[in-house]
Amino acid sequence: MNETRRQPWWESGVIYQVYPRSYQDTNGDGVGDLAGIEARLGHIVSLGVDAIWLSPVYPSPMADFGYDVADYCNIDPIFGDMAAFDSLISAVHAMGLKLLLDFVPNHTSDQHLWFQESRSSRGNPKRDWYIWRDPAPEGGVPNNWISDFGGSSWEWDEGTGQYYLHAFLKEQPDLNWRNPDVQRAMMDVMRFWLDRGVDGFRIDVLWHIVKHEAFPDNPLNPEWTPDITERDRLLQVHSTDQPEAHAISAKLRELADTYGDRVLVGEIFLPNERHARWYGSPTQPQVHLPFNFQLIESPWDAEHLRGVIEGYEASLPSFGWPNWVIGSHDAPRIAARVGEPQARVAAMLLLTLRGTPTLYQGDELGIGEVFIPMEEIRDPQHFRQPTLDIGRDRSRTPMPWDHTTNAGFTTGKPWLPLNADWSSRNVAAQNNDPASMLNFYRRMLALRRASPALSTGSFSLLGGSNDVLIYLREGGGQRLAVVLNLSSHIRRFELPANNQIKAVLASTLQTEPAHGSLSPNEGLVLEIQKSG
Ligand code: GLC
Ligand code: CA
Repeated sequence: MNETRRQPWWESGVIYQVYPRSYQDTNGDGVGDLAGIEARLGHIVSLGVDAIWLSPVYPSPMADFGYDVADYCNIDPIFGDMAAFDSLISAVHAMGLKLLLDFVPNHTSDQHLWFQESRSSRGNPKRDWYIWRDPAPEGGVPNNWISDFGGSSWEWDEGTGQYYLHAFLKEQPDLNWRNPDVQRAMMDVMRFWLDRGVDGFRIDVLWHIVKHEAFPDNPLNPEWTPDITERDRLLQVHSTDQPEAHAISAKLRELADTYGDRVLVGEIFLPNERHARWYGSPTQPQVHLPFNFQLIESPWDAEHLRGVIEGYEASLPSFGWPNWVIGSHDAPRIAARVGEPQARVAAMLLLTLRGTPTLYQGDELGIGEVFIPMEEIRDPQHFRQPTLDIGRDRSRTPMPWDHTTNAGFTTGKPWLPLNADWSSRNVAAQNNDPASMLNFYRRMLALRRASPALSTGSFSLLGGSNDVLIYLREGGGQRLAVVLNLSSHIRRFELPANNQIKAVLASTLQTEPAHGSLSPNEGLVLEIQKSG
């Protein structure tokens, strides 16, 4: 890397995702709000992250909890108002943090005025802002596309006698990004928030925004079995990742760049080679960070993780900065997946790989599986395919702050239940315990910040077998080895020949490390030096 190049903040920075409904309620309605996030900024600062990404806070009927936007340039009353937003963003900036909003370009709510107009008549000027099609010649839906939430992507509109396309819920009609007026209107939305001072956007389902012009059927997925989601019956080759979407992504970047140091993070699920194209080229860059979800998707063992890391690193264009994610409002909690002791190893991995990490609220407390009683389930993804157990509510439960009523989250009834162990697993309790997950996260984040090798240094993978992942990070005269035991057994490891340990900079455990072996679930960051 060119030493004289100025390092943008988001390369060495760490992003923290806040799910606003579940952070902090201030008015007793059981749903988190902007004033609540502002009141809890101290926690975010104490964690040691750089930027907050807020899931959508715009006016919404909440069919998909805010990912169905009814007005892109306002705040839903459930979260507050514009004044509350302005107050939050100035508080965020005053604390030296950045704020990213969630930009949802693929679809609006069916309650958005644009869609109301669009569906009012075939001749309406906004008709073409959405994707309308006649029935197939033999009748029925225009093609075989399946919504990501299950069922056909097409919804019949009785009033105007056509179908409209929705990649998600029928309450989330897809915008037609081939229409230049849609592009202009959505870029105005970005300007609206950039002018208000936001430091960038996480862009929702970016690879979905353009569809094949001729709407051909998607091919069947030969690997589909009934125990996986209905979406996966088909390969989404014509409904996603179209060449035209890259041109749009470049336009969004061009706009963001006119504002200076802003960042675009794109939500993109694709295999490496196609994923990497979303960086664009040096002369026509696209998003700064195409979200990399592979740690979420990979089986949790050293061999698979090694393959994921090698494959991803090798796929990056020379100018592309990597990034890693381990949890989100859509994915099962990492501690639920791998258990709490291994979740520390996961956190050490996330915070020592090369690239920008994104943390998800609550993972810093090690929140694990949360049981949601049937009558409290809220997620529409569950209701569309109830037998698959793919509800996302258990990752969206309220933050437990202390041992008072409802963990200090609300004085009312929380919109989703708390983690069952909230009275001991909460921020206040973990603040006071040096061995807690929270304080482990703080130590790792502080180490990462202080270490040029970790925040921006080079990366080389040394091994990933026999349950041990081992890699080197080097930079600023520092040479570190990260050694992770992915198992709950004692494992041996070897440093590169002629290297010896200078210092143990971090451990997932409270105990002194042994020589050449790792305790169960032990992860170490070692400063090493060549001997002799
Ligand atoms: C993204 C969001 C998810 C939402 C979907 C539709 O994947 O993260 O929560 O349901 O887009 O907007
Ligand atoms: Ca509230």
